Amino acid sequence: MISDPIRLGVAGLGRGFMLTLPSLLADPHTKLVASAAPREESRQAFRNQFGGNAHTTVEELAKDPDVEAVYIATPHQMHRDHAEILAAAGKHLLVDKPLAIDMADATAIVDAVERAGIRLVTGPSHSFDQPVVAARHIIDTGRFGTVRMVHALNYTDFLYRPRRPEELSTASGGGVVFSQAVHQVDVVRLLMGGTAHAVSAATGNWDPARPTEGAYAALLHFDGGRFANLVYSGYAHYDSDVLQDGIGELGQPKDMSTYGAARRALASVSSPEEEAALKSKRTFGATEVPAAAPHPEHFGPVFISCDRADLRLTGKGIEIWGDSKREFVSVPAIPAPRTEVLKGLYDAIRFGKAPPQNARWGRASLEVCHAILESANTNERILLRHQS
Ligand SMILES: NC(=O)c1ccc[n+]([C@@H]2O[C@H](COP(=O)([O-])OP(=O)(O)OC[C@H]3O[C@@H](n4cnc5c(N)ncnc54)[C@H](O)[C@@H]3O)[C@@H](O)[C@H]2O)c1
Repeated sequence: MISDPIRLGVAGLGRGFMLTLPSLLADPHTKLVASAAPREESRQAFRNQFGGNAHTTVEELAKDPDVEAVYIATPHQMHRDHAEILAAAGKHLLVDKPLAIDMADATAIVDAVERAGIRLVTGPSHSFDQPVVAARHIIDTGRFGTVRMVHALNYTDFLYRPRRPEELSTASGGGVVFSQAVHQVDVVRLLMGGTAHAVSAATGNWDPARPTEGAYAALLHFDGGRFANLVYSGYAHYDSDVLQDGIGELGQPKDMSTYGAARRALASVSSPEEEAALKSKRTFGATEVPAAAPHPEHFGPVFISCDRADLRLTGKGIEIWGDSKREFVSVPAIPAPRTEVLKGLYDAIRFGKAPPQNARWGRASLEVCHAILESANTNERILLRHQS
């Protein structure tokens, strides 16, 4: 029982907020008390559902004395300004991934957080998924020795979900590297432990109608000769959820009979404005909030090779393929798929016990994303300088 939930405000009542909302409603670590949103329909829906203060701007939200922490769920390019305003007002922060688009903006956020002495958690990110956290605990016991290699793959329909124009422009933070690789990089960095020092990568930009990266393969080199291999396609063909016990990314049972739905929905769209409007239909106030999903979230199959076992993360837990026997470790039930990130924020603020995914962590994962793009452009192996 939690008697002192974090009094949380949210900036941006869009799709990211919508995906976190079922967890915010089911999990006890936070209580939604305020929001900031430019659209009156979203503010009215917030007042109706939560009765809290629905502000028009982040500046007003920053002045709200009822708010202890703010979940920044505005578009990537606004994270820096919003983080600086809120940190200066002493609000703790949960900043949705990626922390920022430019490295300079990420550094400005790190500085603002450290200057203000507030806590920042970068998330929700799939590195908070229960099987990932449970695997990290198993690794920490030392039972299977050092993690030597991680292989992570994910095939989704990401590029064909309705998008704002900037989400289809790499220069503006669009494409799968900024929005999806950042999840995989977070997962892999958490599981590998230690520090990544270089990246070699290739990217795919295969559909002129969606002219940004839709796929990548990246090799991350870690200390001690350890390495991780990341593969991703968002081209809406193969769906790797079939390898995850039929459980979707958000922990929901996946209905495979809807195959092709993302491309079919886009086929009727004839302009970027229509597409952005279609995206708005999936945001808060425009559609029902689903119940919290029954399973943990995941970001595709992940294989972890240790000295004495391979571990595989599934939709329900962890398969362990040891030297002489196989086991399955199921993950315990939690109140909601995003409980770990909300608990992380709570522990950081109430007990000063922050999860690894702080501002410097968010910047380090962003650096890997930039290195993937740079390596793909130059055919070079890119050295990393901001790993934490
Ligand atoms: N972790 C996840 O599962 C997940 C999923 C989707 C999106 N996201 C993240 O959420 C962020 C937003 O992306 P999205 O897909 O929700 O976009 P979106 O367009 O659906 O939502 C953004 C919202 O911000 C609002 N907004 C714009 N300017 C604002 C301002 N100045 N003040 C307050 N609100 C403002 C918009 O009205 C909109 O409702 C991105 O950083 C994205 O990476 C995370």
